[in-house]
Amino acid sequence: MSLMRLAYASEATFAAKPAEKGVEPNVARILMVSRRNNAKSEIVGGLYYGDDHFFQYLEGEEEAVRELYDRIARDDRHHNISILLEEPIKNRTFTNWSMKYVPLSSDVNRFLDTEGMEAFVPSEFNRDQCEEMIRLIRDSSDSGRVVSHDGVRNRRNRESVIPGGILAGLIAAGVFLVGAMVYVGTML
Ligand SMILES: Cc1cc2nc3c(=O)[nH]c(=O)nc-3n(C[C@H](O)[C@H](O)[C@H](O)COP(=O)(O)O)c2cc1C
Repeated sequence: MSLMRLAYASEATFAAKPAEKGVEPNVARILMVSRRNNAKSEIVGGLYYGDDHFFQYLEGEEEAVRELYDRIARDDRHHNISILLEEPIKNRTFTNWSMKYVPLSSDVNRFLDTEGMEAFVPSEFNRDQCEEMIRLIRDSSDSGRVVSHDGVRNRRNRESVIPGGILAGLIAAGVFLVGAMVYVGTML
């Protein structure tokens, strides 16, 4: 019995629901099935989803991992799949995890910032970056919850939005200005 690990990157074929509307339903369905199947075949790992890209890490018995990967590769909810890492391992490195789900959390965003990456494009990860992603999955505090995805694009968009307080102030100033103009108009 030999163990192996495999990581791949792919692109989602479905159009993502806006992040603020909660968990992307396609991803939620994938996770539900994954947790059921992977627990049975003793495969552990993690799935990242964000900016329309997936990064998945699988670890387990070689035969089971290869069989699962072949099935996943045929799934038409994603395409442009590239294997980033595929090798034997001596020991399991995850304990008790059928499939951790990690949305683009602050940890990942920090990692992308450090690497100077604007968006989550895991197919461009080199080996060290791949290892770092696996470490983030292993250390993440997901306790089985399915949390809403929050992509880098959304994060960047949010950063460029005018803060609520300033926006309210601008609206108030605008209303005041229009009122003043109307008042001056009636005086003439
Ligand atoms: C990005 C992605 C990751 C997936 N990961 C898993 C997984 O870890 N385990 C799994 O059983 N199915 C996974 N699936 C779903 C499989 O492709 C397939 O639909 C599923 O295993 C079928 O399970 P069923 O025969 O129990 O219905 C994934 C699909 C996608 C698109």
